Amino acid sequence: MSELVIKAHNVTKQFGDLKAINNISLNVEKGNIYGFLGPNGCGKSTAIRVLTGLLTPSTGQVEVLGLSIPKQADALRLKIGYMTQKFSLYEDLTVAENLLFMGQIYGISSAQLKNRCQEQMQTYGLDKLQKQIVGGMSGGQKQRLSLACATINKPELLFLDEPTSAVDPENRRNFWEKLFDLSELGTTILVTTHYMDEAERCHRLAIMESGVIRADGSPEELMRTMGVNIVEVKTTSLRSLKSKLIANKQVRSAAQLGVRLRVLVDEQVANPIEWLKSQFPELQQAELTLARPTLEDVFVSVTGASRT
Ligand SMILES: Nc1ncnc2c1ncn2[C@@H]1O[C@H](COP(=O)(O)OP(=O)(O)OP(=O)(O)O)[C@@H](O)[C@H]1O
Ligand SMILES: [Mg+2]
Repeated sequence: MSELVIKAHNVTKQFGDLKAINNISLNVEKGNIYGFLGPNGCGKSTAIRVLTGLLTPSTGQVEVLGLSIPKQADALRLKIGYMTQKFSLYEDLTVAENLLFMGQIYGISSAQLKNRCQEQMQTYGLDKLQKQIVGGMSGGQKQRLSLACATINKPELLFLDEPTSAVDPENRRNFWEKLFDLSELGTTILVTTHYMDEAERCHRLAIMESGVIRADGSPEELMRTMGVNIVEVKTTSLRSLKSKLIANKQVRSAAQLGVRLRVLVDEQVANPIEWLKSQFPELQQAELTLARPTLEDVFVSVTGASRT
C-alpha cells in the first residue's frame, strides 16, 4: 500500500446530543483525490474541520501528514490548503492583494511571494483580473481565486469543501482539470460534494449519511459491489407501479426517469427481469432491460434515499 496521508480511526464529533460525525474511519493515500459524497447536514464540513485540526474530535484518533491531530494542528496548518464552503475571500481587496495576503499568512518571503502570486494568477486564468476588486467578480472567477489562494503555499494536502456549488457546469469541468493537474504533481485532495458526477471523478470516495460513512471505495468498486441488479422498466401508470414495487423486500428502490422506472433488485434474485414479470403481472407486456450501474444507484442503495 502506498503512503497514507490521512488516517482517521473511529472518529466522532458531538454537538450536544447530535453526533455530526459518528464513528467514521478513513485512509487517504498520497496523490489521491478522495471524495465525501452526501446530502446537506450529513457531516461533510464537520469531518473536514476535524481533519484540519480546527475542531477537536469527541472521540477517535486522527493522523494527518504524520502529525497527531489536534495536538499538532499548528504544524499541520502550514502544510495544507483549505478552500472553505463560502470561499473566504476578502471582497474589498483586489485579486493580487488577496493572493499576497494569503502568501504572507503562510510566511512566504517577500522575495518569493511576488513571483508566486504571478505564477498562481497565470495558472488560474486571473492575470487580466489582478487589479479587480473581488466583490465584483463572477462565481467562477471567485472559485478560481479561492483555489489559487488555497494552493499559494504548494500544500501537500488540499481540503476543498463543496468547491463547485456556486458555478456552472463548464466552470466545474475546468476546475476539475486543475484538480487533476495538482493530483498529478503529488498533491492529495479531499473534496466534499453532493454532485454524483463530481464524486465519480474521485479516485476513492466515502458516501455519508447522517454522520456515518455508509460505503467507501473507488467508484468502480462501489458500483461492482453494491449488491443489486438494475432493470429499467418502460410502461404506463408508473406512479402506482412504483409504490407496488417498493413494497417488495427484494426491490431496493424504484426511481422514475421520464417515461421509465429504474428498479434496483437485490442481486440474490437470479433473473431479475423474469422475476419482476412473475411478481408483477402488469409487467408482462412492459419493456424491461438490464442497465449498467451508476454512482447514483450506489448512493440510493446504501442510503435512506432508497425508500422514497
Ligand atoms: N458548531 C456546531 N454546533 C452545533 N451543531 C453543528 C455545528 N456544526 C455543524 N453542526 C450540525 O452538524 C450537522 C452536520 O453539519 P455539517 O455542516 O458538517 O454538514 P454538511 O454535510 O457540511 O452539510 P452542507 O452540505 O449543508 O454543507 C448538522 O446537523 C449541523 O447543524
Ligand atoms: Mg458543509
